[in-house]
Amino acid sequence: MNAVLAEAECPRVATRPEVAVVLLGTGKVGGAFLQLLRTPAGANLRLVGAANSRHQQTQPAALAERRLRERLDAAGEPRDDRALLATLHGSTAQDKVIIDATASGELAARHPEWLARGCHVVTANKALAGGEIGGWHALQAACAQGVHYGDSATVGAGLPALSALRRLHACGDKLTRVEGVFSGSFSYLFNHYDGRQPFSTLLREACALGYTEPDPRADLSGEDVARKLLILARAAGFPLQRSDIEVENLVPEAMRGVPRDEFLGRLGELDAPIAARHANASGHDHVLRYLARFDADGSARVGLVEVPATHPAAHLLGADNLFAFSTTRYAQRPLVIQGAGAGPEVTAQALLGDILALA
Ligand SMILES: NC(=O)c1ccc[n+]([C@@H]2O[C@H](COP(=O)([O-])OP(=O)(O)OC[C@H]3O[C@@H](n4cnc5c(N)ncnc54)[C@H](OP(=O)(O)O)[C@@H]3O)[C@@H](O)[C@H]2O)c1
Repeated sequence: MNAVLAEAECPRVATRPEVAVVLLGTGKVGGAFLQLLRTPAGANLRLVGAANSRHQQTQPAALAERRLRERLDAAGEPRDDRALLATLHGSTAQDKVIIDATASGELAARHPEWLARGCHVVTANKALAGGEIGGWHALQAACAQGVHYGDSATVGAGLPALSALRRLHACGDKLTRVEGVFSGSFSYLFNHYDGRQPFSTLLREACALGYTEPDPRADLSGEDVARKLLILARAAGFPLQRSDIEVENLVPEAMRGVPRDEFLGRLGELDAPIAARHANASGHDHVLRYLARFDADGSARVGLVEVPATHPAAHLLGADNLFAFSTTRYAQRPLVIQGAGAGPEVTAQALLGDILALA
């Protein structure tokens, strides 16, 4: 039998309370989440709606199809958030969850409204919590109504970075510094760059492996890392704003506004500046890493840093992330969380974990 059971067809044998879910975004992460619904861990979840940016589906039989993601790409009902919400509210399940597996700022801006309407929100989309401080305040106010905001997947993909930080904070352990590598693409690029091959070659390789956004400027700008730093600092009680963070954009100014294809054709222009930085670092036995750092005095920076071989970030592998939390009780050595910091499967697992925690 299908693990994804449409509401009307589902026999009530679940041992855990049922949770009705609407999935927004059926791309890489949303697609992996649909796979998880077919495992025993997802058995008490009822998919009552799913959508990409163009189509949606609310019909139980269609939602139960194995090729739902591909079918939504080709066809479906027209996009209408109201219809999706009506289906969710019409469900008999006690807990109702909207999963945001998109990068849409428009959808993220609606998270407080959904929470205010009694839905839990579980998200990989960092546009709200990592955006303007006003949005973050709206989120805090909406969460005070007793609904749950699951944001584990917004930082470190499946790594328990945010949950560990919140736990320390709840115990009165004050964050004094957070530092690390928060981007899988930057991690891959600088873990592999040794000056022997052009940086642009490595970047093309990272693009081909799916480690970057289709337009790698989205990664190289540092803005995604800055959003994660905002989320972490705010979770630790610091109302940090984007304007408080010094962000180093690795895209030369002249290449920031050009069309994507032109940018991809001019990647070679990135090589000389990075090679010079690398030569300088290796001149005194250091390596380059793109680090994020926030100190409790309010200083915050994301950018390229020369680190010695003894630095934990110097030993990262693949596209791993690293989060080092220094606190009043972890004062001698930081609490370090490290591992795969990107990938649809681990990110989808973080979404599922947040849903299971609220149920
Ligand atoms: N991939 C990872 O490893 C990873 C790790 C951590 C966090 N994340 C975060 O997870 C989110 C999704 O990433 P992804 O890699 O899955 O991206 P993706 O493959 O580009 O998928 C994005 C999905 O969102 C849909 N979408 C966009 N606007 C929408 C709207 N208004 N309503 C409904 N659906 C909409 C897209 O629909 P169309 O197909 O119609 O465009 C697509 O299905 C992003 O916020 C990303 O930063 C990703």
